[in-house]
Amino acid sequence: MGKRNLTVVLTFFVLLFIGIIIFLGMSSKHIEVYPPDFLFGTATAAYQVEGGNVNSDWAEFEKQKGAIKTGERSGRASDSWNMVSQDIGLMKSLGVNSYRFSVEWSKLEPEQGKFDEEAFDHYTVQIKELRQAGITPLVTLLHFTFPKWVSDKGGLLSEDFPELFEIFTKKVVSELGSDVDLWCTINEPNVMIANGYIYGIWPPEKKSQSDMVRAYRALLLAHAKSSRVIRTKDKNAKIGVAMNVVDFQAKSWLNPLDMIASKMVADAYDWSFYDSIKDGRIKFWAIGFHSIDEALPELKNSVDFFGMNYYQRKLVSFSPFKADFFELSEGSGDKSDLGWEIYPQGLLAMLRQSYGRYHLPIYVTENGVADKSGHKQQEFLREHLNMIDNALQEGIPVKGYYYWSLLDNFEWDLGFGPKFGLYAVDNDSFKRSAKPGANVYAELINERKNGRLQ
Ligand code: GCO
Repeated sequence: MGKRNLTVVLTFFVLLFIGIIIFLGMSSKHIEVYPPDFLFGTATAAYQVEGGNVNSDWAEFEKQKGAIKTGERSGRASDSWNMVSQDIGLMKSLGVNSYRFSVEWSKLEPEQGKFDEEAFDHYTVQIKELRQAGITPLVTLLHFTFPKWVSDKGGLLSEDFPELFEIFTKKVVSELGSDVDLWCTINEPNVMIANGYIYGIWPPEKKSQSDMVRAYRALLLAHAKSSRVIRTKDKNAKIGVAMNVVDFQAKSWLNPLDMIASKMVADAYDWSFYDSIKDGRIKFWAIGFHSIDEALPELKNSVDFFGMNYYQRKLVSFSPFKADFFELSEGSGDKSDLGWEIYPQGLLAMLRQSYGRYHLPIYVTENGVADKSGHKQQEFLREHLNMIDNALQEGIPVKGYYYWSLLDNFEWDLGFGPKFGLYAVDNDSFKRSAKPGANVYAELINERKNGRLQ
């Protein structure tokens, strides 16, 4: 072959090669956006799945007539206290590499200063088994419930609360810390205080705006203390708070009052806790509430990530006849069994807003749908994971995604009604059975781990 012909042939192959690369690049989404250490997980909370709740504020609460809407009691819940090894097996079959769960303070410290070593052993074994299965634990220290002796002292409103939580944290980190690096100090402080202190539908059943602000302050103080303890004892620790974020949108984009109202609601509900952390000041402001702004420098650097629990969008309209001047309604999208709008775009919007505000890595610590039929869950997973793909492509540092929940469980004041699980749980035998969403989640994880996105 002449030199010229060889050059033509070589040029042809080089161009062909470049063409193939460009074609592949355009036809597939670049799944390499998933870093190898991305965590795919499922999430639960001790009170909701373990069973055997006897010593906590919620155990007391659920005894009252009418407290749980269905009249049920948590009882053995999903029996995870006894079946956790099996549950880890379920996680393995999903292919998840992380599990977010909470440790139950009322089991670990049933009386003030008296720790139950057997209960600690239980979690030590659980964490070892998770590690052996290649599943990274993310431990929540306070997922709504605390011991009855804490509520007898006044719960969040007791002067001692932050210190009591600090002492509890110290013990947990010294017992379990060697195998845990991911910590969530508090789950959804905003939901805890709204339901417990404004709507009065959760313990301690108060309806007082000033008590709500006091409870909010206590949770920030408690978080700051707990975070400092974790940092001193565990140098590799990554710490966050799991916030319930709702994509609040103005009901009418043409109405400036709706726009102002939706921003005010979002600032107070979604962001004020992390704004306080960022600024090192306990800050809260909302119409009708006693506002607060007080220095707490320890808050700064008390978090390494933003924990995001995202479920829904809500529309906000200005309403002069309401005490707080706004009203919430649902958008037009499909609804979950709880009537919450399924709105995947909201997840991306909240990831953008959180990153824009705090420049922190984000773990989506909860995302899920109440779906008895088991069919909405599949589409829900696809659409929400697509939003994670998009966020990563935009350069937002999402580090993990946890589906709520692994199992059907006890949904607080709504009892066993709402079904969030990837696995259904039989009420009598506690047998777990996969819903269609379980296979879908496994496939979606697999595609992302292997870089094969459609
Ligand atoms: C919460 C919790 C979970 C719920 C889940 C579904 O938001 O109340 O973190 O315990 O079960 O969010 O409502």
